[in-house]
Amino acid sequence: MKKDIVTLWDLTKADFDGLFERALELKKRHRQGIPDTPLVGKSLGLIFEKASTRTRISFETAMIQLGGNPIFISAKDTQLSRDEPVADTARVLSRYLNGLVMRTYSQEFIEEMANAASIPVINGLSNLYHPCQILSDILTVLEKKGTYSGLKIAYVGDGNNVAHSWIEAGAILGLHLALACPQRYSPDQAVLDRALKDGCGTITVTSDPEAAVADADVVNTDVWASMGQEGEAGERFKVFEKYQVNSMLMGKAKKDAIVMHCLPAHRGEEISEEVLEGPQSVVWDQAENKMHIHKAILEALL
Ligand code: CP
Ligand code: NVA
Repeated sequence: MKKDIVTLWDLTKADFDGLFERALELKKRHRQGIPDTPLVGKSLGLIFEKASTRTRISFETAMIQLGGNPIFISAKDTQLSRDEPVADTARVLSRYLNGLVMRTYSQEFIEEMANAASIPVINGLSNLYHPCQILSDILTVLEKKGTYSGLKIAYVGDGNNVAHSWIEAGAILGLHLALACPQRYSPDQAVLDRALKDGCGTITVTSDPEAAVADADVVNTDVWASMGQEGEAGERFKVFEKYQVNSMLMGKAKKDAIVMHCLPAHRGEEISEEVLEGPQSVVWDQAENKMHIHKAILEALL
């Protein structure tokens, strides 16, 4: 595997499959009470500029279960907030830590850190991508459906970081991906262009949620205003109204379709209460799987 995961393009299909296989094994062993502690004596830094419940705590718990130590670093409390260059920070942290998870606004910040650090740098969400999320999401698809190939995977809502990482995963794994986003909030054209140029599978983007969800095996959604976009919420909600994943929209998908949401969810906005809490929802397993896939990632990279 490459040193870093700053985007899913850092992984090959074989890397994805290896991580899924190992995460399932680690999950099973964890359930059986068998400890796996290959990272004794190692430390993982977590630099976060944005809020997090799942990503932070699942990475920290993953590191502890593997025998290592997580160190949470609020970005504003470091000298980065007083303009110490990223490259200097990267070289210093590489002397202390064995790996770094970053949650930032700018994707360039993570890339700059990864380029200057000698330790692995893992993207725990930027404005552009959420790679580890989609790894745990596809792990959940594998568990629930037995495979990710040949399925129709729909994504309804904002063409955001989560959508972008789904597009990259789709291109690498050859998924059959159908996105429905309001035209103004379509995925980034450069992300789509690269996926279409370098990837396989089929990726379609429409503004019609019913077309995207028709006969889907998996239906995904995410918030309409991401972290940092709170000021745009009012204006966005008007445009996104018909993109709610509710029982009516789910009626277009296959009967046994599963519903996914990376959480936090806003009931009555991008997803109805009934669907989120209903029998097709796999959101709690999806959240749990973040910890298992993070263990596989840390074991592989550290
Ligand atoms: N899904 C996810 O990344 O959740 P957090 O923002 O709580 O980390
Ligand atoms: N798109 C959301 C994902 C949160 C996990 C955000 O960036 O806020």
